[in-house]
Amino acid sequence: MSSIFSYSINVMQLTSREIRQSFLDFFSQRGHRIVPSAPVVPHGDATLLFTNAGMNQFKDVFLGVGKRDFTRCADTQKCIRVSGKHNDLEEVGYDTYHHTFFEMLGNWSFGDYYKTEAIAMSWELLTKVWNLPIDRIHATVFRTDDESYSIWRHYLPDHQIHRFDEKDNFWEMGESGPCGPCSEIHFDRTPDLSGGPLVNKGVPEVIEIWNNVFIQYNRKPDGTLEDLTAKHVDTGMGFERICAVMQNKSSNYDTDVFSPILKNIESLSGKKYETELESKTGIAMRVMADHIRTLAFSIADGAIPGNDGRGYVLRRILRRASRYSRNLGFHEPVLWKLVQTLVDTMGDIFPELVEQQVIVERIIRAEEDSFLQTLDRGLERFGDIERSVRASDSTTVSGEDSFQLYDTFGFPIDLTELLARERGLTIDIERFNSLMQEQKLRSRAARKAHIQQVELPSVDASTEFVGWNDLSSESTVLFVKDNQIVLDRTPFYVEMGGQQADFGEITVGGNRYGIIDVRKSGDAIIHFADSDIEHLVGDTAVATVDSRRRWDIQRNHSATHLLHEALRRVLGNHVQQSGSLVAPDALRFDFSHFQKVSPAELLEIEHIINDKIRERFPVLTLELPIEEARKIQGVKMFFGDKYGDKVRVVIIDEKFSAEFCGGTHVSNSSDIG
Ligand code: SER
Repeated sequence: MSSIFSYSINVMQLTSREIRQSFLDFFSQRGHRIVPSAPVVPHGDATLLFTNAGMNQFKDVFLGVGKRDFTRCADTQKCIRVSGKHNDLEEVGYDTYHHTFFEMLGNWSFGDYYKTEAIAMSWELLTKVWNLPIDRIHATVFRTDDESYSIWRHYLPDHQIHRFDEKDNFWEMGESGPCGPCSEIHFDRTPDLSGGPLVNKGVPEVIEIWNNVFIQYNRKPDGTLEDLTAKHVDTGMGFERICAVMQNKSSNYDTDVFSPILKNIESLSGKKYETELESKTGIAMRVMADHIRTLAFSIADGAIPGNDGRGYVLRRILRRASRYSRNLGFHEPVLWKLVQTLVDTMGDIFPELVEQQVIVERIIRAEEDSFLQTLDRGLERFGDIERSVRASDSTTVSGEDSFQLYDTFGFPIDLTELLARERGLTIDIERFNSLMQEQKLRSRAARKAHIQQVELPSVDASTEFVGWNDLSSESTVLFVKDNQIVLDRTPFYVEMGGQQADFGEITVGGNRYGIIDVRKSGDAIIHFADSDIEHLVGDTAVATVDSRRRWDIQRNHSATHLLHEALRRVLGNHVQQSGSLVAPDALRFDFSHFQKVSPAELLEIEHIINDKIRERFPVLTLELPIEEARKIQGVKMFFGDKYGDKVRVVIIDEKFSAEFCGGTHVSNSSDIG
């Protein structure tokens, strides 16, 4: 079914700005606190790459581990759905109502109202305030949720209420976390009101506009559901969709949310936007208009394009948009020029865009610049590949060719897939994935070979680390082989997170052995001595760390925390540690930034660090439950790292630096010296 259809209802015409405000006013008048959108980069939640729903910032409240000083609230939340459980990337540009970035208007009840009031308020806003026609509204409920069904019966006839199963009516934010049955509201834009059977069929004429989720379970990582202690409401309305519905547009891109961006693209390209779904110009402009929002908002919130994780998602999106800009004839960076339109139209609602405009434009422009250097050659190469595929009477691009496009020309696989699809070809994705896997293993093996030339014995023993506070311990020998010795407890720190291992000595049976390396094997900590050890399992040993070396390492470790924070403050929140070395005589801190750090910036960074050292701040190491630790203002944790239930957080001056860290530190910043 084509997505360009004629549609018109008789409602008051509001601008998108007025629609957003009217939603917030409605809930504010009904006792809801209006809260700001959380950042689109969920700094405190390692289970998500991007904020994908309004409820993310309240996950702790739903789970019963966090509290707010209100039980009802509402907001407009910036969301990105490009990875994980909720991923709309493939549809974007080809249809008119999916986006990588969108605003979600939401209202929440934390153990306050439940189904009856939530549905009543949705109904009132849609039909009494906004006057949407009742015969176009369809409600869906979870197949066993008779309660919601009978509530909807007060408002709608049976043929406008539908039951669906888990796929459509049980909402979960990810593989784990708060969840529950939901009741969605769909809107029928068919001319003859024949949309009932089209609910949840993926057609643009009948679209979901609002979801009321009744959060009552927690999905645990092992897949089981547990009851929450209270029942909550989590709703989300697609802002761009409700704007289209109320502004009588069959496409979200025809609303005033997107038209200023499209106008800008039109004037930069000298081409006219074409609404037809199949139009190449239309697709290219829609992709650019959509993707620039994801790029600008995520970079403004501290993300940066890069080679893995969140950064690679952004890089893929940027390269996709950049390739479509080429379809419009752009040979120079152009996406960055669209940021200004977002600042002009959304900057007052999301002030971070205004604050970060310069940095956002510079990052996007630098990324475009670097991709454009290989884009032409990559497209040429793809042309050659296509010719040889056709010459051999095939329609499949080999995994090897796709891998070469990735490795040499920087083409993310979804970009190659897209080019192939446009030409009626497919990709041998299995072979591509196995080549990727081989490359990963090769580089992992190379890294391993570099850091670990010694073969470690597997030792069935476990060593307690007592070196947080003690530099010496009386221990029992659990294992001896050649120059390797394992004790039941040790103050020796194993190299971890960049912090180098402790050296020192172990005395056993009157003999002193110099310890020149420490490694972990399973739960055992293996000390490497400078000569073979003659003593036996069960003997008593005294292990003593070289305190001078440890002291210097600690000074450098605390200094890296100051450096990390100073870099963020001067260069921007996108700075993240991608590697580090903490040795007794030096420290190194690896991070990505889109340009060289200038001498003036370096000076500022040095000043900040030296001030913090001079100001003599206590350095606190706290062991906290992870949920509590995540809530510390500005805490740095590392995406993709697995943390246990308890974590160590190192804090230097409450208002300055807090960071998840398993290393050892000085007790006062002035010790760094
Ligand atoms: N969390 C639900 C959704 O994203 C309702 O906000 O659809």
